[in-house]
Amino acid sequence: MPWPWQNEQRCWKTLRQEMNEKKVREASFFVERMKMDTEIINLQQRREEGICAGIQCAKQGELFAIPTETVYGLAGNALNEQVIHSIFTTKGRPADNPLIVHVCDVAMAETIADLSKEAYALAEQFWPGPLTLILPAKACIPAVVTAGLSTVAVRMPNQKEVLEIIRQSKIPLAAPSANKSGRPSPTKAEHVLDDFAGEIPLILDGGMCSVGVESTVLLLGERPTILRPGNITQDALQDVIGTVHMDEHILHPMQTNDVIRSPGMKYKHYAPKANVTMVDGANKIEKIKQLYDEKTREGRACVIFSSLQTSDFYQPRNCVILGDNERLVTFSHHFYDALRSADKAKYQEIIMESIPAQAEGLAFMNRALRAASFQVILAK
Ligand code: TXA
Ligand code: MG
Repeated sequence: MPWPWQNEQRCWKTLRQEMNEKKVREASFFVERMKMDTEIINLQQRREEGICAGIQCAKQGELFAIPTETVYGLAGNALNEQVIHSIFTTKGRPADNPLIVHVCDVAMAETIADLSKEAYALAEQFWPGPLTLILPAKACIPAVVTAGLSTVAVRMPNQKEVLEIIRQSKIPLAAPSANKSGRPSPTKAEHVLDDFAGEIPLILDGGMCSVGVESTVLLLGERPTILRPGNITQDALQDVIGTVHMDEHILHPMQTNDVIRSPGMKYKHYAPKANVTMVDGANKIEKIKQLYDEKTREGRACVIFSSLQTSDFYQPRNCVILGDNERLVTFSHHFYDALRSADKAKYQEIIMESIPAQAEGLAFMNRALRAASFQVILAK
C-alpha cells in the first residue's frame, strides 16, 4: 500500500501526462485541418485538365507546382502580394531573396520590366529557354517579389503547358524552385511531393526536367554579369551582346564584406542530408577510393558520384554515374535527383569527382560546390 504522498505524486504525474497528450492531440488535429490533398496531374495524359487546373490556381491565388525545362517551380500570381507572401512562407525562404517572374512572351515581359536593346536581342535568341534577365522593374510588381530591389528577374520558360497557363490566365507567375529552402532543387514531380505534400493543392507533372539545373541569371545594364551560371553559357551570351562578365562568387563562397548582387548567393543551397565531399586533382580516383574505404571502416554508408569514364575504377564500391566527361552538360541532368536518391537510400557520405568548371561544366560545379559546402580535397 503506497503512502498517500506517493499516490498524490502519481496523480500529478498522470495528470501532467494526460494534459500533454491532449495538447499533442489538439496540435495534430490543427495540423491535419491545415493540410490539404495535393493532386498530381500528369500533363502527358491529362493535358487540358492540367492547364485548366493551373489557370484556376493562378486566378484563385493558390500556389501550384509547375514543370519547366530547368527545375520545377512553386508558382503563384506575381501581382498578388498575399500570394507572394505564401510562396515565401511555404518554401521557408528568407524574405530578402527575390523571385523570378515567368512570362509567356516578350509583350508580357514589357508589362512588368523595362527592356533594353540587349534584353530584346537576348529574348529573341534564347526565349523560351533557360535564361533569366535582371531588368528594371515596373511599378505593378509588388516589392515583396523583388525583395525591395529596383530590378526584377524575368524569364520565359520552355514548357508549352506552362506558357499556355500564363497566356490564358494573363497572369505572370512568380516561381522559385519548388524545394524547401536549402534542399536540392526538384527535377521530378515526386521531388516536389516529397517537400510539399499536403501544403499545396496541385502539382503539374511534366516528367523529368530536361536541363536539370536552374536558368542562367544575367544582370543587364552597364556591365552585363552572370550571377548564376546555367546551360546558356558566357560564350553563347557574348555572341549576342558582346562582353559578359562573371560574378566572382560563382565558384567561391561569400565573404562577410562582399558586395551581394544576387541575394540568393549568400544562402546555403542544394544540400542533401548526407555529407558531401568533392575531390579534385590528377590523383582524384585514388583519393576517392581511400576516403571511401576510410569512412566505410568508420561505419559510414558511402556512395561515389563518378563519370561514365571512371566508374569502373571504383568497383566494387557503391557508385552512381552522373555524366559523360566528353559532354559536360550531362552532369547537370541527374545531379539533384542523385542527391535526393542518396538521401532516400540513407547514404551518409557522398564523395564526388570534380569536373572542369568551364562552359557547360560551370553550372554543375557552381551547384556541386555549394552542395559540398565548398569542402574540396585536392589530390595532386
Ligand atoms: O530555372 C530557374 O530559374 C527556376 C525555374 C523554376 O524557373 N527558378 C529558380 O528560382 O531557380 P530561385 O528562386 O530558386 O532562384 C532565383 C535566383 C536567386 O538566386 C535570386 O537571388 C536571384 O535569382 N534573383 C531574383 N531576382 C533578382 C534580382 N532582382 N537581382 C538579382 N538576383 C535576383
Ligand atoms: Mg532555388
